[in-house]
Amino acid sequence: MEEIKIQRAAKLKEKPDPKTLGFGKIFSDHMFLLDYHAGQGWHDPRIVPYGPFMLDPSAMVFHYAQEVFEGLKAYRAPDGSVQLFRPADNARRMADSCDRLCIPPVPEELFVEAVKALVKVDADWVPNEPGTSLYIRPFVIATDASLGVHASHSYLFCIITGPVGAYYAEGINPVKIYVENDDVRAVKGGTGYTKCGGNYAASIRAGERAEEQGYAQVLWLDGVHRKYIEEVGSMNVMFKVDGKIITPALTGSVLPGITRRSCLELLRDWGYAVEERLITAEELFDAAESGKLEEAWGTGTAAVISPIGEMGWKDKHVVVNGGEIGSLTQKLYDTLTGIQWGVEPDPYGWTV
Ligand code: COI
Repeated sequence: MEEIKIQRAAKLKEKPDPKTLGFGKIFSDHMFLLDYHAGQGWHDPRIVPYGPFMLDPSAMVFHYAQEVFEGLKAYRAPDGSVQLFRPADNARRMADSCDRLCIPPVPEELFVEAVKALVKVDADWVPNEPGTSLYIRPFVIATDASLGVHASHSYLFCIITGPVGAYYAEGINPVKIYVENDDVRAVKGGTGYTKCGGNYAASIRAGERAEEQGYAQVLWLDGVHRKYIEEVGSMNVMFKVDGKIITPALTGSVLPGITRRSCLELLRDWGYAVEERLITAEELFDAAESGKLEEAWGTGTAAVISPIGEMGWKDKHVVVNGGEIGSLTQKLYDTLTGIQWGVEPDPYGWTV
């Protein structure tokens, strides 16, 4: 592996107030860069001062969205050390996303080393207020100056980081969601299982409409039958129904979330029956109306666990667990964040 060169910023930025961070608006002093050129492979890993880069207006990423990204966090443990949560899983998933988008995969070991090196350089940016962390956003963009629709021959892999608080302004409070019947975020055979920008672009209109109607997010249905639940907002979704946990199966249009995987491992460990399968909106609303839907929550890196308090679908409206966070949802949040922030022991070896 080529050595990562480090060019430090001459002037460091002022750190923000850790009590008012929000999500994704503030960025640290440095970024990681790695180039790809056909024939040369991935080369020239370097950490440089954070700043804009020059791209040709015809760069392929601007026109055909040949792009993938990841999201993970670094956490400040009580002893002051900094830890990552399952970074190798992000490296693996980005390689899968690259494969679907016809991008040469970034070597997984290099991905993890790059994240570690960048977080070390900007370790002072890892906040230590409760509920805060350093969000890490790796991404790859196609940089060929060309309008032909084909795979680019050159790419840039970049990692930026920034301190974050809660993703939703509501924090861990239950959110209202509604089932989206018109737009779909992804279809089987498409890119739903990858983390590519296009999936998120396609989701924005429904999210905006949901907000206009007083909902925080939408519950996505599958694109073929418009029947099966897939995700909630930009998160995976789970339900506790009659004591059992059910979550949409990874059918190709659902993102294989790392928080999703971690929750399922915890839940199975705690003795819950966990079903990864197709779930219709009808089944879900029937369960809610008959009192069998006990809890519902979204899982994702940004918000970790986001309880669902109310759900709307056509003319139906149901309240989950009296609109309060359920005890299992809370236990998942506490356990996961306890491990992530190094407050609880990590028997799974998830932290690095
Ligand atoms: C996550 O929570 O993991 C997400 O994907 C949300 C991110 C796109 C902001």
